[in-house]
Amino acid sequence: MKKYNFDQLIERKNTDSLKYGALKEIFGTTDLKPMWVADMDFKTPSFIIDAIKERLEHPVLGYFDYWESYYNSIKWWTKTRHNYEIEKEWIIFSPGIVPALGFCVSAYTDNGDKVLVQPPVYHPFYYAIKNQGRQILSNPLIEKDGNFYMDFEDLETKLKKGVKLMLLSNPHNPVAKRWDKETLSKLAFLCNKYNCILVSDEIHADLTMPSFKHIPTAISTDNKEERNNIITLMAPSKTFNIAGLSTSEVIIPNPDLKKKFSHQIGDILHMYTGNILGACALEAAYSEKGGEWVDELRDYLQENLNSMNDYLHNNFPKIKTYKHEATYLPWLDFSEYRYTHKELLKKIAFDCKLGLNDGTIFGKEGENKMRINIALPKSELMKAIEQFKHL
Ligand SMILES: Cc1ncc(COP(=O)(O)O)c(C=O)c1O
Repeated sequence: MKKYNFDQLIERKNTDSLKYGALKEIFGTTDLKPMWVADMDFKTPSFIIDAIKERLEHPVLGYFDYWESYYNSIKWWTKTRHNYEIEKEWIIFSPGIVPALGFCVSAYTDNGDKVLVQPPVYHPFYYAIKNQGRQILSNPLIEKDGNFYMDFEDLETKLKKGVKLMLLSNPHNPVAKRWDKETLSKLAFLCNKYNCILVSDEIHADLTMPSFKHIPTAISTDNKEERNNIITLMAPSKTFNIAGLSTSEVIIPNPDLKKKFSHQIGDILHMYTGNILGACALEAAYSEKGGEWVDELRDYLQENLNSMNDYLHNNFPKIKTYKHEATYLPWLDFSEYRYTHKELLKKIAFDCKLGLNDGTIFGKEGENKMRINIALPKSELMKAIEQFKHL
């Protein structure tokens, strides 16, 4: 018996939602279905809302200190959900994963240093590097038979050039790939060999499809030195639809790396305090109830994915889909329509009236590709994708 109702339609227009409010700036029109920025059109679970309300029963919202059960909930979640046993001392709050990427770049690299990424990749990776005067080095993913792989030959060539830091997306946004243990352990080995600190953005860790298990990069290897070279970024924000609470956790087992990160976020920026409602939400999320809710969500997302793929294959075979292992953000290829990328964007926004992410924001590899957000009631999803008939 299912406990949660993901079919319920929630009106998000005029609620200060970015996804619904910024359409004119992003797409040049408001007459479209927003399926872009990565939050969900589902309710934040009630046990999280209740935890926030409970805290609001106390009339003072002053400065606070993180409490023991807050840390324990993070430790419990990483262990029970991802088999990663961590210590309280390894955990640092960050007001988001994108900020944490930026803090890592500033803490571990200097002006002009090379930082490696694997395009097509989540676009703020580029900003964290470029906007701080560091150099982006690309190790593009290899696309083969509807799936994506890491190019280790190219990676090693680049690491030999003296790369200080690598930003990894695990699972990978936007290609929806869950990296396997063999790939991750090879990566951990190479980064350590060439003294390149590996930052693993695992914000989508909880959102693998039900038949896939997320592997934290840090446990892909048993080698202590390699583990100590890895920083893991996790958060309840994507999983439980609480991105508006700006709460995430950074896991750094290496005391030297932790000290540098703490210096950056604490002594320099003074941003390590967070917000108390976010902390309450995190603790409520990382619980047995949270696990139950996420598992139902993952089943629902799998059903949405299957229904979308079936519909596309049967009705619009020119739209190519990929092997999808994680995230609620499938990657779609429209090359067979033979439009220029600019024409494609215009067709999708103005003829199909769909607000999808332009593939090229993730890198030039995203030419003729779009990212679609399928975290919405199935009835809405199916209505939306019917619109591809206007292509
Ligand atoms: C890979 C990845 N990292 C980070 C974020 C956003 O992180 P935050 O909102 O915590 O800054 C997203 C959101 O889509 C993402 O896909």
